Order: sequence, then structure tokens, then C-alpha cells
Amino acid sequence: MNIAAVDYDGLIPNNVGLGQDVRVKRALEKWHPGYINWWKDMGPEGFQESLVYLRTAVSVDPKGWAKFDYVRMPEYRWGVLLAPQHEGRKIPFGTHKGEDAWQEVPGEYRAMLRRLVVIQGDTEPASVEQQRHLGKTAPSLYDMRNLFQVNVEEGRHLWAMVYLLQKYFGTDGREEAEALLERRSGDPDTPRMLGAFNEKTPDWLSFFMFTYFTDRDGKMQLEALAQSGFDPLSRTCRFMLTEEAHHMFVGETGVTRVVQRTCEAMKQAGIDDPYDIARVRKLGVIDLPTIQKKANLHFSLTLDLFGNEISTNAANAFHAGLKGRFREDRLKDDHQLESGTYPVLRLIDGQIKNEDAPALSALNMRLRDDYVADCNVGVGRWNKVIADLGIPFEIKLPHVAFHRHIGEFSRTNVDVDGNILSPAEWTERRTAYLPSESDKDFIESLMQPQFQPAKFASWIAPPKVGIDNKPGDFEYVKIADA
Ligand SMILES: [Fe+2]
Ligand SMILES: [Fe+2]
Repeated sequence: MNIAAVDYDGLIPNNVGLGQDVRVKRALEKWHPGYINWWKDMGPEGFQESLVYLRTAVSVDPKGWAKFDYVRMPEYRWGVLLAPQHEGRKIPFGTHKGEDAWQEVPGEYRAMLRRLVVIQGDTEPASVEQQRHLGKTAPSLYDMRNLFQVNVEEGRHLWAMVYLLQKYFGTDGREEAEALLERRSGDPDTPRMLGAFNEKTPDWLSFFMFTYFTDRDGKMQLEALAQSGFDPLSRTCRFMLTEEAHHMFVGETGVTRVVQRTCEAMKQAGIDDPYDIARVRKLGVIDLPTIQKKANLHFSLTLDLFGNEISTNAANAFHAGLKGRFREDRLKDDHQLESGTYPVLRLIDGQIKNEDAPALSALNMRLRDDYVADCNVGVGRWNKVIADLGIPFEIKLPHVAFHRHIGEFSRTNVDVDGNILSPAEWTERRTAYLPSESDKDFIESLMQPQFQPAKFASWIAPPKVGIDNKPGDFEYVKIADA
């Protein structure tokens, strides 16, 4: 028997032997109708009956686990899929380093572990809620399909976390699983747990920036949790990472195609100056300075997800062996960090300075630094497109202290280069760094749906290749009449 294969016979596809685990199977079947109601209420608006060309996991084998087919989203086979167990796996870091990985929740860390699972779980339905209106303005059927693929997989990530809650956390796990369906992104009374997941995703450039920057935070968190000494969490996150890669592909290539289209249109019209914004916008494309502002916004909102510069929670989770560092297994040190230090940017006497902090307390910043480095790789690719088309412009990530709402820098105003501004200067320059109302209006004016196969809205270039190697005129979504 292939242990990587997924059992599709029951209501809930799985590779965790749910058929033999009656208690958990019942608990999940009981949770299922609430999930479907949530999906119909808060999932993609207006396209629940449409046939979408989606991939579904049929195996957790790293090679080719996806099967593509047309499916109505509410009938998507959401399931519980864990990466294969590594026989004899040890806890890779913290005070229990070298002991056998836990197959059951260690009693002393139960509350901390549940909190980690709930926080991760809460982000998954949140992004579906944030993106629910975007189908109606999709710039192509190709993009619409990618949006829906991301959405159903975020739904599956919720299932992944709910499985852990139901299987390992008893009554409180069940209550947390219910609460995950009750909170709503942006709702003042019952908001999602983290700030960036209560922001709006009002247009497609925001969607691409969100999947580039914010899903990448998801990747970093999953990488850190994939190291966990609690083996079921590690295995869950390892499989989620294979899905997450697609979300970041959607973001990176989405922005690339926007940038490419802008530069091509400028070239064709003989416009060399990227700051000649009025003329560029007349071409029906998004000017590069506005793309930069959107990047500034989404990057800074996402940095807040890494939490405080100095964090005892992060230290405790590492010490306990629950949440590691980015690719802990490839790092060469003692994996306990009881003595080392790590340089952290801080606000000291009104100035931004590097200060050595105990390595354990600085783990949030270490993960954030790894994140920034990861972000810069794709930004470099965007800049190559711009340079190849001969436009003098470079997209740059803003300083990490810019536009922050969490941590030390939330107490001050900082420009994109890291200079501290007075409140008056900030108010005056804010719209030079972040999208203004008129920028938002302009982008919104471009969000005209393009639902013909092979056609794309004016502001975005077609992709280089189709999904599942489909030809350019493939009908990725068969839209049902409302
Ligand atoms: Fe996710
Ligand atoms: Fe994601």
C-alpha cells in the first residue's frame, strides 16, 4: 500500500486513517456542515455554481500530487493531508533537543501549542473572506481560476488546523474549531486575530501583493512550525508548504505581469519617464510609482505579523521545541540558543539603532530578516523585467521601520529610507509612500472584468504558460449564469 495515497472514499479525504479513528471522524463530520455554510457565506461571491479547473491532491508524494479537473467550489474535496512520517524523528531544537518527536501533545505545553495552531488556523479562512469579492473583477479566466485555487487551498489549510484541534485538544479544541468559523475578517465585533487579516483586499493588484507578501509570511510561519517537535504539526505544515508555493507563484507572477504590461505600454507610447503618471495612466496601465506604493503598503502590513522585536512568547515556543527557526535543520549552531545574541533594529533615544539581544528573545526578528531576504528575491525579478524593457525605475522594499503598527516603530513615523519624520512631515508625505484616495480610485477604475477565454484586461500581460500546460484559449472557469 502506498502510504502517501489519499483515501477519497469517505466524506473527508485523508491520509491519516480517519476510517479507523471514529471519534475524530465524527467530530470532523459534525464540523463539516458549518464549514460549508461558512464557505457559501464568506467564500467567493457569485461563483459558487461555476465550474472551476482546480487541482486536488491525490497523494502527498512530492512528485506530482495534483489532479486537475472542473469542480464546483462547494463540492471541492477538502481533506486532511499530512506529509509522510519520518521514522525515528527527533525534536530538532530547544531544551528537548534530541529526544523522540512527540506523537501526542506534551501536557506541559498544551496551551502554548493550541495557541500556535489557532493563530495559524485563523489566518486561513481570513484570507478567503478578504478576497471574496475579487472574482467579479477578474482580469481573465486564468487569473480567476488562480484566485479560486488559492481560496480552496486556504480552506483546506483551515481543515488541516481543525484536524489537529479535534484530534489532539479535546473539548477546548472543539470549541476553538467552532470559533474559527465565527470570527470574520474586518468585523469590528468579531475580527480575525491578526491585523493584516482584517485589512481589505479591494483590487487585483492588492491580491497579487497580498499573495506575494502576506502568503510569504504564511510560508515563513509554516517553515518554522514544520520544524516542531510535535510531529503531527510538523507533518501538517510540511504538506501545507507545497500548496503555499502556488500562492506565492500567483503573487510573484501576478506583479511581474502587471509591471511587464506597464513597461511595454510605456515603450510603445514612447514614454521613458516613469513619473509621467498622467500619461502612463491614459494607456490603461498602472504606473510604476503606484505599484511601488502598493508594495510599501503590503510589505509594511505584513511585517507586523512577525510581532514584537523582543518576544518572550517566541523564546518560550522555541525553548519548548514547538516552533523553530526558518529551516532550522540547515542551520549550524547548538539549536538551543541559551547563550548567543542576535542584532535587532530598535528605537533607542529616538534613533533607529542595531542592538544585540539574547538570541532566544530575538527569534521574531530572525524570522523577519529571513522573510525580508526571501521577499527581495522576487523584487529582483520584477526589476529585471523593468530593466529589460529599458525603463529607468527600480522597485525597492521600504525600511522595516516604515509604517508600522506593532513593535517599537509603531511609536514613531519613519519614511521608506528609514529617516524619522515629525508627525507633520509624515502627514504631508504619507501619500508619496502609500496609495492615496485618487490612486485607489484609479486602480478601481481599471478593475473591469475580462471573462473571455484568451483575453486579458488592459493592465496585465498574459502569463508565459498556462496552468497544467493548457493552451492560451483554455476556459479555466465555466461561469454559471447567476
Ligand atoms: Fe494558508
Ligand atoms: Fe496561502
